[in-house]
Amino acid sequence: MSTPIVALKITEHQHDLTIQRPASGLSLQGRLKVPGDKSISHRALMLGAIASGETCIQGLLLGEDPRSTASCLRAMGVEISELNSEKVVVKGIGLGNLKEPENILDAGNSGTTIRLMLGLLASHRDRYFTFTGDGSLRDRPMSRVIKPLQQMGAQIWGRKNNTLAPLTVKGQKLSPIHYYSPIASAQVKSSILLAGLMADGKTTVTEPSLSRDHSERMLQAFGASVEIEPETHSATVVGTATLQGQKVIVPGDISSAAFWIVAACIVPGSELFIENVGINPTRTGILEVLEMMGADITLENERVTTGEPVADLRVRYSQLKACTIAGDIIPRLIDEIPILTVAAIYAVGTTIIRDAAELRVKESDRLAVIATQLNRMGARITEFPDGLEITGGTPLIGTEVDSHNDHRIAMSLAIAALNASGTTTIHRAEAAAISYPDFTATLQSVCGQTREYANSF
Ligand code: S3P
Repeated sequence: MSTPIVALKITEHQHDLTIQRPASGLSLQGRLKVPGDKSISHRALMLGAIASGETCIQGLLLGEDPRSTASCLRAMGVEISELNSEKVVVKGIGLGNLKEPENILDAGNSGTTIRLMLGLLASHRDRYFTFTGDGSLRDRPMSRVIKPLQQMGAQIWGRKNNTLAPLTVKGQKLSPIHYYSPIASAQVKSSILLAGLMADGKTTVTEPSLSRDHSERMLQAFGASVEIEPETHSATVVGTATLQGQKVIVPGDISSAAFWIVAACIVPGSELFIENVGINPTRTGILEVLEMMGADITLENERVTTGEPVADLRVRYSQLKACTIAGDIIPRLIDEIPILTVAAIYAVGTTIIRDAAELRVKESDRLAVIATQLNRMGARITEFPDGLEITGGTPLIGTEVDSHNDHRIAMSLAIAALNASGTTTIHRAEAAAISYPDFTATLQSVCGQTREYANSF
């Protein structure tokens, strides 16, 4: 019997993922589907809750983050059917009707849950809502949404001079604003637009560069009046809005597909076909960068589902070359920087990533953690305050690494391990379940197919 390429070892206190490349070599082959888009899943649940009538969601991500959103909404009186990827029904209670919960709301690890809900609830007059989250979330900056919401008239209290969770919001009558955000952040933009739904008049957010636009698209689909000015990166919502429940088909998450895209790019001889991936242009920075690096990626069956562009992706191995990733493209690949760092290790030359200081306040300090963990495996990565310099062409050697409880770090390290010699053990690998509960099973399957494929020669 051949040794398993991927063995999941669960110890008493933490989950370890152990990956050992087979001596006979490795190439990834096969077709796969990735789970539903995390950003779209959160928004479908939230807009479904505040719309009139039923919302039916197909393809919802069953990761821990959307589960946090669903349980907060349930605690505020929204009926949501059991979560599954086939069909979830949300019985909308109408705008402004979320109930004061009897207990503290737990957003878990999810920045999107807490930041968007602060905006949504700031207009729910005379009701108190208190949020907490895990250790990572309680450390993440919240003033980026609290400040503009206060400008609209919101009352919010929290730790460290009202900047950190636990946070309490007491609903008020809000006034519309035009907010010039100092950072390109879809969470900030969405929080303000959701608050604007119940402020009389136009609420506008202008960003330094364009962040993901799923809120704007879905608000429009639910019947809100939304104006977009692409040249100035501005989005406006007109309040008071009325939303009507919809059928939402959630496309596969390009941020989850990114792991397989990079895996196929860097493991010699690989070819993967990834079905049903969202290719919203505010999210496709990774495809543009990999193409610039010489990747072989083709888009097939391009189509649109519920206002979101979707395609199947075919990715074949090719030798990558280094590039510079900076400027306006950063918000369009913000979650893919850890896995792009892995790609850069296998590129010829030195890759530079700049303008990415936001990564320091994600689920972990992603610049520090990805550099430290990959360097433990023999990579040559140096940190800038706002980025990384990665010298390509250094072979990786398996060792013990740690996800720091960050889902995207756990999965990036697993992909790096596929090309490493020896054995890599990723501690706290269970963090992947935040956005990709079946990650290990899919890893097994793309590697397993390889074994059969390799043995048949
Ligand atoms: C998200 C926006 C991004 C992203 C996060 C999800 C969203 O954060 O990193 O994973 O759903 O709006 P920022 O908007 O803060 O950059």
